[in-house]
Amino acid sequence: MTQFATSATREGVSLITLDNPPVNALSGGLRAGLQAELDRAFSDPAIGAVVVICAGRTFIAGADITEFGKPWQPPTLPELCRIIEQAPKPVVAATHGTALGGGFELALACHYRIATEAARVGLPEVHLGLLPGAGGTQRVPRIVGAEAALDIITSGRQVKAQEALSLGLVDAVVPEADLAEAALAFARQAVADGEKCARVRDREERIVADRQNPDLFAQFAAANARRFKGFAAPGAIVEAVKAAVELSFDEGLAREAALFEMLVESPQSHAQRHVFFAEREAGKVPDLPADPPLVDIGSVGVIGAGTMGGGITMNFLNAGISVTLVETTQEALDRGMGVIRRNYEATARKGRMTDAQVEQRMALIAPSLDLGALADVDLVIEAVYESMDVKVDIFGRLDGIVRQGAILASNTSFLNLDRIAQATRRPEWVVGLHFFSPANVMRLLEVVRGAATSKTVIATAMKLARRIGKVAVLSGVCDGFIANRLLAPRGAQAEAMMLEGTPIANIDRVLTDYGFAMGHFQMMDLVGLDVIGRDATERTVMGDLVAAGRLGQKRGAGYYEYDDKRRSSVSAITEGLIAEVAAARGVHAKPTTGDTALLARLLYPVVNEGAKILEEGIALRASDIDIAAILGYNWPVYRGGPLFWADQVGLPRIVAEMRALEAEHGEAFRPAPLLTRLADKGASFGQSA
Ligand code: CAA
Repeated sequence: MTQFATSATREGVSLITLDNPPVNALSGGLRAGLQAELDRAFSDPAIGAVVVICAGRTFIAGADITEFGKPWQPPTLPELCRIIEQAPKPVVAATHGTALGGGFELALACHYRIATEAARVGLPEVHLGLLPGAGGTQRVPRIVGAEAALDIITSGRQVKAQEALSLGLVDAVVPEADLAEAALAFARQAVADGEKCARVRDREERIVADRQNPDLFAQFAAANARRFKGFAAPGAIVEAVKAAVELSFDEGLAREAALFEMLVESPQSHAQRHVFFAEREAGKVPDLPADPPLVDIGSVGVIGAGTMGGGITMNFLNAGISVTLVETTQEALDRGMGVIRRNYEATARKGRMTDAQVEQRMALIAPSLDLGALADVDLVIEAVYESMDVKVDIFGRLDGIVRQGAILASNTSFLNLDRIAQATRRPEWVVGLHFFSPANVMRLLEVVRGAATSKTVIATAMKLARRIGKVAVLSGVCDGFIANRLLAPRGAQAEAMMLEGTPIANIDRVLTDYGFAMGHFQMMDLVGLDVIGRDATERTVMGDLVAAGRLGQKRGAGYYEYDDKRRSSVSAITEGLIAEVAAARGVHAKPTTGDTALLARLLYPVVNEGAKILEEGIALRASDIDIAAILGYNWPVYRGGPLFWADQVGLPRIVAEMRALEAEHGEAFRPAPLLTRLADKGASFGQSA
């Protein structure tokens, strides 16, 4: 018996209980504890079978991610799986909660699997830049066939108990309360039947069938090329599943192990593991008490039914929270309600929602033309256009309308929250809740803490974010908060290089090669140049494009030309405008540099801005800045975010290259004091927290 594994004998069956809170991760201690209990059970003649079950909220949720990259303590997980699979006595896995990754692989090595009705199983390693390294890629295709295995393993999705049952991934589904007893009964029956232990490794039927279709793997990779672009893990998964079909079980396992080793050492997997922990760290605010008082959010008011207000509203409807949606005119209200309805109906048409669910969600909205309708809600989110005067007016009025003890939030993306809060007599109840467009899709929520915002309000906002499926990052007050401020220098450099004569298609390609889904100018065209509409003080290419009616993709022309399938091509008109604007502004052409130098010029200023945001205390930690870039701006997750990436490039190199860029292009490249200090010390952003 160890702190991680205990056993009790129940009528000839050993019930081994694993306990490693919070998620029963397969740490070295847990593996050793389980091995000791298994040895005892296998050598005890009075024991006929074994049930492995977990205490707490879930079955094993995977390998202990914190152990990756360190030497493995024996037994390794693959060894443990081999011991179980080859055991002389039946071993039954009794799963509840989420049996994920190594946890599900361990269950697959058991001879039988019982799951509760609410249980889920899955192999989410792909999200960590990995593949299942303990037989998952070999055993799953033996049960469900290569095609379904590829779907499950490359998506990393959680398979619900009933689907797992119909696929054969589990043998029985039972009510939560009956799990232990049902698994014990199953084990006793297996002993009574006296059948050989059912080993997944011995199953050949599916594999033999898949051998008839050798093109399956190339077809799957081609069909998913867009989704897999840039990522190493999906390709390795396809290779490992192919090995399951083509090789013997042991050869396949060896292939899987080699691919796992390659991935676990890769910069991509390091980055994705960083992101996994960074996402969870972001929710933690050090100066909040452990159990802070919270505002109970049962109803929400949203002011503004435009694109942002509508998207924000949908988040709450999806979580079952009613929303009072306020607009100034009936027309705007009807339009906003129509957009929300059409969004849901489109989801229903794709089969991801029923018609009844669409109606349930719509029924949670109370549309209104009167701010007075917000008197009793628990949280108001203002999402009108970015004008300080308008916001000050609205908050002043809300102060006289909304009940005391409710939270007043602004979705402003760059205005000074403290000035907005001062429009009320309760600035401690005012907070920024900055959503990213489309607000019902993007996972980032910047929670902006004003000078007076109370801890109760911050704690409530952080918790609420989780409830509506967002990742909250806490930001201080500054122009643009974290994500917009961070990425602004990338846009400024893209536009400067454009005027110096670098083709915009080159600039965009460098960004997509790095891993962004689209380049700067492609993104501008997608959002709509009139929407971005900055009040420029000098002549800009964007201003000229808007004046020429080239508003972006929606008009078939912006920076690029678009055909009816939205495929882009270079525009001679834009090229002409660029040359004119450059001449008007006296910008001289510069020779185009290679891709590496282009990338440095685009992204080093982002790293530098991140250093300033960190040093000014706008962000709590470097990893929060990475999360803001990834979830707010689709920074490629396998780069780990701008500051993680900078650490991988090496801060001394970045500082040296920035000094050279500063000499040529000026102040925008002056290294921030924190960046220089870390580089001089040989330290990293990762160590700066
Ligand atoms: N290793 C180490 N720590 C883990 C962990 C793991 N596999 N899974 C979760 N944790 C930690 C989290 O970091 C978090 O810690 P803090 O409270 O200190 O922040 C804590 O457990 C709780 O996690 P969540 O906040 O995520 O809790 P949740 O209830 O929202 O979700 C979960 C639970 C679905 C299990 C989710 O944690 C999850 O998806 N975990 C990762 C699962 C995974 O990727 N497993 C595969 C691991 S790789 C593998 O197994 C490789 C192999 O084949 C050998």
